[in-house]
Amino acid sequence: MDTKALEEQALAAIAAATTVEEIDAARVEYLGRKSDLKQALRDVRDRETGMTLNATRDRLESAVAEREEALRRAALEQIYAEAQVDVTLPGENPPRGRLHILTQIQREIEDIFLGLGYEVFHGDEVTDVWHNFDALTQPPGHPSRSQHETFYFDDETLLRAHTSPDQIRVMESREPPIYMISPGRCYRRDTPDATHTPTFLQVECLAVDKGITLADLQGTVLAFSRLLFGPDREVRMRTSYFPFTEPSVEFDVTCFLCSGAGCAVCKHSGWIEMGGAGVVDPDVFRNVGYDPEVWSGFAFGFGIERIAMLRHGLPDLRAFWENDLRVLAQF
Ligand code: PHE
Repeated sequence: MDTKALEEQALAAIAAATTVEEIDAARVEYLGRKSDLKQALRDVRDRETGMTLNATRDRLESAVAEREEALRRAALEQIYAEAQVDVTLPGENPPRGRLHILTQIQREIEDIFLGLGYEVFHGDEVTDVWHNFDALTQPPGHPSRSQHETFYFDDETLLRAHTSPDQIRVMESREPPIYMISPGRCYRRDTPDATHTPTFLQVECLAVDKGITLADLQGTVLAFSRLLFGPDREVRMRTSYFPFTEPSVEFDVTCFLCSGAGCAVCKHSGWIEMGGAGVVDPDVFRNVGYDPEVWSGFAFGFGIERIAMLRHGLPDLRAFWENDLRVLAQF
């Protein structure tokens, strides 16, 4: 065997290997059990040939190790290069959430009344005929009691149609004086349009003390609307009728769109209704065991969507419930 020629051939193959697999193949071919070199080593009969072959094997082994090491390092370096992260790249901005506009306004109303010394009460959305109608002296044949107006579970149980049942709950549970508001969801069988949805939010207010008059109601609503709408918007009180207040009134605010001149949104009246109110009827006090000769009070129930529309100039309250982020993200 021409050891020198073999060594040169092997060294060339080792140098030509460009992957770890190729260097493994070269190792098997030239240094493996079945290689010519190993065969020759097994057949060695004299010392000199043995020394020459061993020296060749040592040189080939270190050439393989060296080449293998170089290839492994190159492979690693390629992995590092491909996995490189540019730490100077700007990060991704996750979209930021926010409170729903109606929640924001509800909390603002709560803050205003807490500042006036009121308590915030949260009543149940599921209530009964007594709290929703009877205790409020709603007459038996009143259309709002019908299945076509109110959502009933059975003859006695229903989804509250207004927040006024919370007046009754609070008065039944304690003695005056009472200064409370109760914001929350109400339900009516209304067909959705620009100013009606089957579920909506109201805020109830009830003040019971000695010597409370309609003037206290007027002053409280005026202070409240100045804080919500600013000093430029006018508020007016207009006579109305509710079974549980006497006298009864409704409050209007000058239209956000035409500022009182008259337009389609305010039906050319210049005003938009905020909700009903009045002086608590003596029969309601009797129903909860209060003496109407001692106590007097006022109450109101305003629509929170109405307030949001008035505040932000939105002509259609369905937008609050459709959850279109392009709308909601503006508030
Ligand atoms: N509950 C009445 C409604 O939903 C509003 C109201 C509340 C009127 C309190 C008078 C007093 O229309």
